[in-house]
Amino acid sequence: MKTKAAILWERNTPWSVEEIDLDPPKTGEVLVKLAASGMCHSDEHLVTGDLAGATGEPPCIGGHEGAGVVLEVGPGVYSVEPGDHVVFGFIPACGRCPSCAAGHSNLCDLGAASATGYQIFDGTSRHHAQGQDLRLAIGLLGTFAHHTVVNEASCIKIDKEIPLDRACLLGCGVVTGWGSAVYAAQVEPGETVAVVGAGGIGANAIQGARLAGARVIAAIDPVEFKREKAMEFGATHTYESINDAMGDLATSTWNRGFDKVIMTMGVGNGEALGQAFWLGGKRCKIVVTNIHPVAEQTISIPAAFLTFFEKQLIGSLFGSANPRLDIPKLLELYTQGQLDLDGLVTKTYSLDEINDGYADMYAGKNIRGVLVYD
Ligand SMILES: NC(=O)c1ccc[n+]([C@@H]2O[C@H](COP(=O)([O-])OP(=O)(O)OC[C@H]3O[C@@H](n4cnc5c(N)ncnc54)[C@H](O)[C@@H]3O)[C@@H](O)[C@H]2O)c1
Ligand SMILES: [Zn+2]
Ligand SMILES: [Zn+2]
Repeated sequence: MKTKAAILWERNTPWSVEEIDLDPPKTGEVLVKLAASGMCHSDEHLVTGDLAGATGEPPCIGGHEGAGVVLEVGPGVYSVEPGDHVVFGFIPACGRCPSCAAGHSNLCDLGAASATGYQIFDGTSRHHAQGQDLRLAIGLLGTFAHHTVVNEASCIKIDKEIPLDRACLLGCGVVTGWGSAVYAAQVEPGETVAVVGAGGIGANAIQGARLAGARVIAAIDPVEFKREKAMEFGATHTYESINDAMGDLATSTWNRGFDKVIMTMGVGNGEALGQAFWLGGKRCKIVVTNIHPVAEQTISIPAAFLTFFEKQLIGSLFGSANPRLDIPKLLELYTQGQLDLDGLVTKTYSLDEINDGYADMYAGKNIRGVLVYD
């Protein structure tokens, strides 16, 4: 079939929205008509090259935060059928590999195919344009498109009552941020939490910390609009920089340092991570959710703090969550009014406006920009 997608032909060029050819789903695959896709910062790492080599290379279709309706399933698909509403997990979850069996399906072995950008089972492409095969970047989804073909392992069936332009956010930002606080940082009632970077991921780390019962939630972000929104999501304190937050540790943490520090800046950098070691207190957990450029191979941290104060450094992918468990669970928290999804969507765009959406992200105007399709 013919459909429309945003393609990255070369690094550091705009997304090109054009018609593509999409093959029918093969064994284990699902054709989905997308309703909406969030514009996560990670897709921009693809444009800049910060994620070079870690995910599908250009030419590729971007987008990994999508939701839609199943149109057709290939042979052997048993968990979804035409008409089902689905959110995509940006890490496929097979349910059978050792990571899935251990309850860490965010690290499912099928995720290895993400580096190739091609379909999981046969390593070929269903997406083509201008006579070339297109890869699917970040999670093998291609949600910057009106239709896509993905593996069944990426599809999480959801309640049809939930609006898809909100549900899409569960494909990455909400679960990643919430899980960074609840699962990776293991925030407990009464703790103090610092969230460094209050964008799409950070806003949800703040919500996770709030739901976990933190008594202090400090949102650190240079952009005033992000700090204002952070208060709506549950922050109790805001600061323009890590240094400013350091200067206020006496009041915010009774001079103990934060129990948990969650790094959710647009682009991770070693200097900020080094500072996080001063922001955290004894036995703090420092969670690295933001992505450092693949090229950054050396960073400087006060490593003695790991020993003397038992400070802990923890990485977190997809909020260390299990998509099949956590996506429906968090959507239920939304339905109950405990989790704010509406406030995350600052502005919606058509697929043709995708470059405007990312310009607004860089300008600090959006918590999340969301592409909404007809
Ligand atoms: N680990 C994962 O599974 C995972 C999943 C999704 C996204 N990410 C990564 O998380 C990061 C955040 O993504 P996002 O979509 O929320 O981006 P975003 O652009 O929406 O938000 C980033 C925020 O960081 C702020 N910021 C920039 N420099 C800062 C600084 N020096 N100190 C404090 N704040 C600063 C920006 O003002 C912005 O509000 C990105 O690196 C993204 O690739 C990781
Ligand atoms: Zn993302
Ligand atoms: Zn698995």
